[in-house]
Amino acid sequence: MKGIVLAGGAGSRLFPITKVYSKQLAVIYDKPLIYYPLSLLMLSGIREVLIISNKETIPLYKQLFGDGTHLGMQIEYAVQDAPNGIAEAFIIGEEFIGNDSVSLILGDNIFYGKLNFLYEAYSNFNIGGTVFAYRVTDPERYGIVEFNEESKVLSIEEKPKQPKSKFAVPGIYIYDNNVVEISKKLEPSARGELEITDVNNVYLEKGELNVQMIGRGVAWLDTGTPASLLQASNFFGVIEERQGLKVACIEEIAYKKNFINTVQLENVIKEMPNSLYRDYLLQVLND
Ligand code: DAU
Repeated sequence: MKGIVLAGGAGSRLFPITKVYSKQLAVIYDKPLIYYPLSLLMLSGIREVLIISNKETIPLYKQLFGDGTHLGMQIEYAVQDAPNGIAEAFIIGEEFIGNDSVSLILGDNIFYGKLNFLYEAYSNFNIGGTVFAYRVTDPERYGIVEFNEESKVLSIEEKPKQPKSKFAVPGIYIYDNNVVEISKKLEPSARGELEITDVNNVYLEKGELNVQMIGRGVAWLDTGTPASLLQASNFFGVIEERQGLKVACIEEIAYKKNFINTVQLENVIKEMPNSLYRDYLLQVLND
């Protein structure tokens, strides 16, 4: 399975943070936001990743991650000329996806907690699409799942004014290879975007959409406003300080997942300036 991190967009709600680069480079406690979704793909065992963003930010991501070799990964980059919609990722990524299935994660989505639901979704994945449902208090902001009395999914609506449930579809999606052709056939929505919700509804109509509930033990954090960035920073600050363990430390994950060996991790550490992050990785090495 290939992975895509969609990390562009206008980010206008976070102006001026987003005046010079896209929002996924904003800081969440001790590392850029994009580390969190990228680490999720890595934890799921995905080693080939395409990062899509605007042309201004792609060079900065390249500076951050290079070609991924130091993480035992293959990281590629592609430009999205304008925020034409989430589903455009599969058109831009067509060549990268090749004949494989693909998991897309939005570069501003953070998940934390017991992630077995995700690992199981990947290992059980066969055909169609798998998306998730997470209870929120502000359903008008998301793609929302409508269920019937037997908990069967009837539809998914994008930002409904009158939501039919409180269950939002978070920004992590798993699809078979048909997603490329499905995305190519989409028409832009009223807001002029190729909607991921439309992709999900195509799979739903074919009877090939699997909607998995995410339980209350998992945090799905929002990063859409300055206040939510601060909350997310505080959240990870508290956890990291309490445990002395970092969340979304991509070098540690690469090492623990055996993407890289001890010597490779030592080399990565050698390249880092003196920092708490480097000290932490030295500790990982010695543990
Ligand atoms: O966060 C989950 C929600 O994400 C889903 O529930 C919705 O169904 C889905 O449409 C999406 O809603 P948002 O309104 O949050 O999407 P937004 O336009 O904010 O884009 C999400 C991220 O993707 C954001 O970091 C910017 C990036 N993006 C977005 C678009 C539309 C791109 O890089 N390119 C784009 O063309």
